[in-house]
Amino acid sequence: MTRPLPDDLLKVPHRRDVPFARLTTLGVGGLCRWLFEPTTEGEAQAFVRACAREGLPWRVLGGGSNLVVLGDIEMPVLRLALPKTVLREGSQMTAPASHGHIALAEAAAAAGLSGLEFASGIPGSLGGAIRMNAGAYGREWVDVLVRYRFLTPEGELVEKAPESGEFRYRWSFLTGGRVVLSATAQLAEGDPTAIRAQVAEYRAKRGTSQPLSKRNAGCIFKNPPGQSAGRLIDQTGLKGLRVGDAEVSPEHANFLVNHGHATAAEFAELMDQVRTRVRERHGVELEPEVEIWREHP
Ligand code: EPU
Repeated sequence: MTRPLPDDLLKVPHRRDVPFARLTTLGVGGLCRWLFEPTTEGEAQAFVRACAREGLPWRVLGGGSNLVVLGDIEMPVLRLALPKTVLREGSQMTAPASHGHIALAEAAAAAGLSGLEFASGIPGSLGGAIRMNAGAYGREWVDVLVRYRFLTPEGELVEKAPESGEFRYRWSFLTGGRVVLSATAQLAEGDPTAIRAQVAEYRAKRGTSQPLSKRNAGCIFKNPPGQSAGRLIDQTGLKGLRVGDAEVSPEHANFLVNHGHATAAEFAELMDQVRTRVRERHGVELEPEVEIWREHP
């Protein structure tokens, strides 16, 4: 950071030089130079307000499960560390954005509430899931979301019900400096045994087709319209292609896995090779599905 950070920002709990290997499921990347971890909504608001006032660019990090970091990040990074309290009111559940997504789905199942079974295999934080309108098996967050709280890019706190245009397929307007703080899901009383069975079935499906035992960031490329990125990469013969410790998974070709010590440069090189060879073979340009962080986006 070339200019000093303002005092009110530095009052927000923070750590210096945290390796992204510890902040992401993929386990690559350089250092997070400034990691701000507010433990209250007020501290999160102070962070956003100070950055807005100073015109400081910053980023928000969730569970780091859909993220590839290429190098060090000098700008402040916000990662909420709110208390993991889940509030149940009737058949509604409210949780802070920093709550684990799978853990929330499990809490709903344990409470005999149906509606979040689809979420039980999607890693990351609740905030990241809301921001992406995460979904699986024909269900997505907007189907159950009844209220949410977020900060505007200026640091104003807004609580509201979702409206049309705010959430679409794997997209929401909660980007560009907006920060999800909490979300409330409308669930339904269900049979705990049936809910657990559905969760187990979804997990088993994922477990057989995806390399979940290796460090990964989920699917790396978007499915091109009407096609499957995994199938295209597979048909190009790239399963098992390796650059250092980064490999195109032999189990699912759209997963690039880290065998332990992959570097950001190795991942960037492997992604480039996959894109180039799929372009040459199929004439299709694969677009990243993961978020990619470089210091200068
Ligand atoms: N396929 C191959 N070879 C492979 C992988 C897949 O031929 O190596 C074929 C499969 O046989 C199948 C087709 O490609 O016919 C689609 O594969 P799959 O069913 O695994 O689904 P996907 O489109 O690759 C999507 C999401 C996943 C999500 C699954 C299940 C995208 C880019 N991927 O995968 O999401 O888990 O459906 O719901 O939308 C993620 O978002 O990170 C992610 C993994």
